[in-house]
Amino acid sequence: MDTELNESVYRSLDGADTAISIRDFDLWYGDFQALKNISLEIPRNRATAFIGPSGCGKSTLLRTFNRMCDFVESVRTEGTIEFDGQDIFKMDANALRVYVGMVFQHPNPFPMSIRENILYGPRRMGRLTKDEADEIVERCLTRAALWDEVKDDLDKSGLGLSGGQQQRLCIARALATDPEVLLMDEPTSALDPISTSMVEELMSELSQDHTVVVVTHNMQQAARVADKTVFFYLGELIEEAPTREFFANPREQRTQEYLSGRFS
Ligand SMILES: Nc1ncnc2c1ncn2[C@@H]1O[C@H](COP(=O)(O)OP(=O)(O)OP(=O)(O)O)[C@@H](O)[C@H]1O
Ligand SMILES: [Mg+2]
Repeated sequence: MDTELNESVYRSLDGADTAISIRDFDLWYGDFQALKNISLEIPRNRATAFIGPSGCGKSTLLRTFNRMCDFVESVRTEGTIEFDGQDIFKMDANALRVYVGMVFQHPNPFPMSIRENILYGPRRMGRLTKDEADEIVERCLTRAALWDEVKDDLDKSGLGLSGGQQQRLCIARALATDPEVLLMDEPTSALDPISTSMVEELMSELSQDHTVVVVTHNMQQAARVADKTVFFYLGELIEEAPTREFFANPREQRTQEYLSGRFS
């Protein structure tokens, strides 16, 4: 694969401590085992990419991190996942979701104004003065690189924005509860190339002071934004490494085959 490695962007994982620790984790949907004996450390304030063929369990693992899997009745799990040293299955799920925010594949602004999209989470956490609300809206939209484009239209519907703007609005909305972790499931697969590169830049930027976990089918994207890359196949974790090492020198045959496009 001719994935260009941008050597300058990778940050060492050596100094990073662990934000999410997964040990011997299994997940079943009914009788079907979707995740098999996964052990993995997600480094704090770094970007980690999950790659692998369709159906290998990337989204399932990502959704487990903020207990979205609770919404699927047939789900059963074994093993442990800790966030900041706490067992996530013993935490209050709503509290966990304040710390662990999520951005989806298809931008999903709420049918309300741009301002109210941002304030939705903070308002549920407590009363806000007008100054506090204004500060949150400006800060989050600025951080998501959208402020300049929408600052005169804050009372217009979020649904009136372009797809790329909607996705940045969703990132701004996720930032509004001040999460430590941002989960992104194929956040650019519905976007045009220019919006994609804006969101990729944002991911790199946000991973300076947030733990970012991104699922992507785009290996170049993993190589561009992630400090650590993890490859899954049929519910198993096959290989994980710092991104440069992962692409330059994959150890496992299945990783090599996947990277060279022999299956997708
Ligand atoms: N709610 C569900 N009920 C039953 N099986 C499910 C459910 N969600 C996912 N699965 C199954 O679990 C496996 C892993 O699915 P998952 O969505 O995590 O894969 P993925 O790696 O994200 O795939 P893709 O790249 O296509 O998004 C698949 O076989 C899928 O059919
Ligand atoms: Mg998926």
